[in-house]
Amino acid sequence: MCPPTHFDVVDQKNPYMSANESVDHPKAMQQWQAFCSALEQAGCEIETIAPVPGLEDMVFAANQAFVGHAKVGKFIVPGRMVFASRQREVPYYIDWFRQRGFTILDLGLSEDEYLEGHGDLLWHPDGSRVYAAHGFRSTKSGIDSFREAMAKLEIPVVELRLVDRFCYHLDTCLCPLNNEAVLIFPGAYDPASLVILRGFWKRVHELTCEEAHKFMGNGIVCNGRYLTPYLTPHLETILAQEGLTPVVLDTSEFEKSGGSLFCMKAFLP
Ligand code: ARG
Repeated sequence: MCPPTHFDVVDQKNPYMSANESVDHPKAMQQWQAFCSALEQAGCEIETIAPVPGLEDMVFAANQAFVGHAKVGKFIVPGRMVFASRQREVPYYIDWFRQRGFTILDLGLSEDEYLEGHGDLLWHPDGSRVYAAHGFRSTKSGIDSFREAMAKLEIPVVELRLVDRFCYHLDTCLCPLNNEAVLIFPGAYDPASLVILRGFWKRVHELTCEEAHKFMGNGIVCNGRYLTPYLTPHLETILAQEGLTPVVLDTSEFEKSGGSLFCMKAFLP
């Protein structure tokens, strides 16, 4: 995780952002600290990366790299981010992972190839495949290069296409709850992708458009809990069916930047 020391909204990278919306900085820090405490209470150990002045989105630790564990041991695939200010975050994350013994699988992506880490690349919980989406941030070409690299590790990649600009990252509309059940917002996918996606799960729970656009699919599943920024009776019923206890955490300051809980961490193997 990365403390939101320099967090700000300075430009419009997604439809949630507005250049004239100001961030309440002390409140953002409080929300982030409460989030850390909730993760610790759920049994997580937290490691942080030093925040860098001028990198206003660095708090969104899910996007700079894809993190995994395979026959090469623990590894990352560095991202190539669409926005220049965010691309500058990537070297800091690469260094962080390199210093901790992760293999760096650099795809050597070219000018027009983008890949935004766990914003668009999500593991099936058992590690048997990766769901990979393009449409707004990561590009099809970026996903193709990623698939080739994963093929060498014998990890299949399931390609999906996103069509709702409020669900510009896959982590806003796909949240695996366990190996059999998933939370999705169907309106975020093109019809063919939706058919493919449904085929991989025994139980598909559907969020409403309002729930998805309030980041209720951007939650974190952790040791029997579901950390979420909001809760509706509908979502509560779904979670109960899957044996998950909701934990509601305020992320209002980060939502101004188009991100919530899932975006603000990367799970380490
Ligand atoms: N302001 C950030 C951006 O637009 C938010 C990133 C949210 N991260 C995520 N994984 N959905 O890049």
